[in-house]
Amino acid sequence: MLSDPIRKPPPYRIKVVEPIPFLSPEQRRAALAEAGYNPFNLRADQVTIDFLSDSGTGATSTDQEAAAARGDESYAGARSWFRFRDAAALLTGYPHLLPTHQGRAAERVLFTSLLKPGQLCLSNTHFDTTGANVTLAGAEARDLPCAEARDLDSDEPFKGNIDLDALESTLAGPEGSRVGLVLMTITNNGFGGQPVSMANLEAVREITQRHGVPFFLDAARFAENAWLVKQREPGYSHWTPRKIATRAFELADGCLISLKKDGLTAIGGLIGLRDENLWQQCEALLIATEGFSTYGGLAGHDLERLAVGLREVTEPSYLEGRATQTARFARMINDAGVDIIQPAGIHALYLNAGRLLPHLTPAEFPGHSLGCQLFLDGGIRCAELGSLYLGTLDEENRLTGPAPFELVRLAIPRRVYTEEHFAYVAGVLGDIAKDPERIRGYRIASAPPLLRHFKVRLEPIQA
Ligand code: F0G
Repeated sequence: MLSDPIRKPPPYRIKVVEPIPFLSPEQRRAALAEAGYNPFNLRADQVTIDFLSDSGTGATSTDQEAAAARGDESYAGARSWFRFRDAAALLTGYPHLLPTHQGRAAERVLFTSLLKPGQLCLSNTHFDTTGANVTLAGAEARDLPCAEARDLDSDEPFKGNIDLDALESTLAGPEGSRVGLVLMTITNNGFGGQPVSMANLEAVREITQRHGVPFFLDAARFAENAWLVKQREPGYSHWTPRKIATRAFELADGCLISLKKDGLTAIGGLIGLRDENLWQQCEALLIATEGFSTYGGLAGHDLERLAVGLREVTEPSYLEGRATQTARFARMINDAGVDIIQPAGIHALYLNAGRLLPHLTPAEFPGHSLGCQLFLDGGIRCAELGSLYLGTLDEENRLTGPAPFELVRLAIPRRVYTEEHFAYVAGVLGDIAKDPERIRGYRIASAPPLLRHFKVRLEPIQA
């Protein structure tokens, strides 16, 4: 159902470049061992292609850098704040806006103000820090992804949706009075980078209004979600991506945004609110812990880049170029014999490592093994999304409950890599797919209790 990616180049050319390192296989082996076989512990100067995250890793534009020179670093009421605020207000329509240094700071400020201990936060899927901040506020994060999400191969257009029946029955059931928030992540980063339909958001609004529960967006990839709605949802092909994004914000009571993604900047976050009392509570906490409410942990030059980035990101030519780049990369990977979650989203591709490495059990962490092999063979860094990240462990760090899928996320920085880089990665993957049995599993050497994947250390299981 998705049309073929068109042969059109990206709508920009490169003006400033950054060298990338190429290590020898021996150097990569030593680097990964030193890192405790955890790519988060690698140094950037050991990585050839960095697909660890699309967060804060994009390239800025000439207009953003020109604007940055105007950065007003006044402690309060800086001109840069007003330019940023106006751009964010135009996009989101929320009357109350608070800047934060990044998304998780917005999460902490909002959840501390909004959620009470013992409450429930329901979501299509919480991102990892989002779930952690719900937990730190004393509440419980519960994911209700739609049933279609369970079929990795189907072409269903909106696998990022929440399960509306599960949402309704939770709110109407014995736990209903415990629900303090419904949070929709667009796009659904924890589940394949899949988009959420406008119909799903409309239904969430209706259900939450009927039950009197606040409805927020975790809108880190609001523009990419809007582009996929335009392409895939009947009735929206004539809407601009900006109009779709603004309509999504309109449906919710407020938003959290990590602006390190669709803000097209290295740093930044935002809380958008309609409720004046909640705004005042959040503002007090923001001033005490992030910074004054006209900068929130950001420098004036960051606010300036963001004001421009928030306009550039909904440009159809930008979004078309980015979506096309990902679609072509997806095709290269499929041609190399590796399956990904279908249909491809925009910000990342999710490799089906469980299927590629059936000789490894979940307890040997096939997704992690594939990620490590991509580094060993090609200097490619990426993140596992499987049993290492999501599974349950016993006290000896042995896997007792595997994740539903063993995936690897290749997150694609914005405006950074060219088709040659993607072809290189697909080539490395193709070589792995020709002889997957040579890849061994890993076992955990040590793991922290919260947000395990960031600091876990592993060791290879010898043949
Ligand atoms: N929400 C979503 C959906 C995210 O993807 C992220 C970050 C956050 C919140 C937190 O924002 O990083 O600015 O504090 N995602 C990055 C990633 C880290 O790689 O997916 P942050």
